[in-house]
Amino acid sequence: MKAGATDYLTKGKLSIESVTRSIRYALGLRKEVDLRKRAEEKLRNSHTDLALAHKELQASMDKLKTAQNQILRSEKLAGIGRMVTGVCYEILNPLNIISGHSQSLLIEKSNDLELCQDLDSIMEEIQRISKIISSLLKFSRKESMEFKKSDIRNELESVLSLVEKEMRLEGIQAVRKFDSNNLPVYIDTDGIRQVFFNIINNAKFAMHGGGVLTVSTEIVTSGADWSYYQEKDSTTVRPDKIMRLKFDDTGSGIRKEDIEKIFEPFFTTKPEEKGTGLGLSVSYAIIEKHSGRFAVESEFGVGTTVVIDLPIRK
Ligand SMILES: Nc1ncnc2c1ncn2[C@@H]1O[C@H](COP(=O)(O)OP(=O)(O)OP(=O)(O)O)[C@@H](O)[C@H]1O
Ligand SMILES: [Mg+2]
Repeated sequence: MKAGATDYLTKGKLSIESVTRSIRYALGLRKEVDLRKRAEEKLRNSHTDLALAHKELQASMDKLKTAQNQILRSEKLAGIGRMVTGVCYEILNPLNIISGHSQSLLIEKSNDLELCQDLDSIMEEIQRISKIISSLLKFSRKESMEFKKSDIRNELESVLSLVEKEMRLEGIQAVRKFDSNNLPVYIDTDGIRQVFFNIINNAKFAMHGGGVLTVSTEIVTSGADWSYYQEKDSTTVRPDKIMRLKFDDTGSGIRKEDIEKIFEPFFTTKPEEKGTGLGLSVSYAIIEKHSGRFAVESEFGVGTTVVIDLPIRK
């Protein structure tokens, strides 16, 4: 017999109340299921929101960390700068006296060849010290910048044309990838050229035996990563556009443990007569005075990219 018929015969007559109760119960169950489903969906959405918020928080924390590092670096460099200026002037005075005496001796004892040779070496070393001191003073001096509206491609070209011949002899090729839509930037041309020289010289040294140096300019829209702390004057409005310069070399790269130190004055991995370790710290300070950003990315054994961002102002 079919189950329905058995039910009809065995179960008592269904009352309206019991049917209503059953229907209510079923409806209640369904409502509960719906509610649970909705709650589950809500939970899922909250979880996604939470994951997103976590990601955003992580990104903000990373930015904050970078900002903190940059501030620390700036403060550290500013402190070193003040000290360096004092020391430089202390050295310059006696150095000028030594130089003066050596020069008069060179004139007075011009027949004494041996002495003249010694005096020549002294003068050479004095010149070396003077060069270091003038670099150091550039690093610490604030007022010597003269900002002029200029086409950055011309500055790059003027430095590249000076070193390109020598680079070619060493098997290094310079590739230019300049944005055709140039916008002028306000720069201290002497300072900026010095920065380019330092970067290109570093790349050249790292590509001993040949390689490719790609120099590019690009106009990018200033994003959230362009933080106010990079502006010396916090009332300055954030620039809409940024001139991004990249110097990409296929050289030796920088070891992970060295990358944090490369902006420190006197940090060098070069032999004594080849480098003083001032190039990058001076360059960093110059770019900072332009309210710009200076960053170095590198992979040991693969190459190095120096990125400079300069604000474009109307
Ligand atoms: N393009 C690069 N490739 C590989 N290493 C680099 C590069 N640029 C910088 N470095 C590393 O960073 C160090 C510091 O560079 P920085 O320009 O400050 O000083 P330096 O080149 O050693 O000496 P100076 O510039 O005073 O002659 C270098 O000694 C080198 O180890
Ligand atoms: Mg250098």
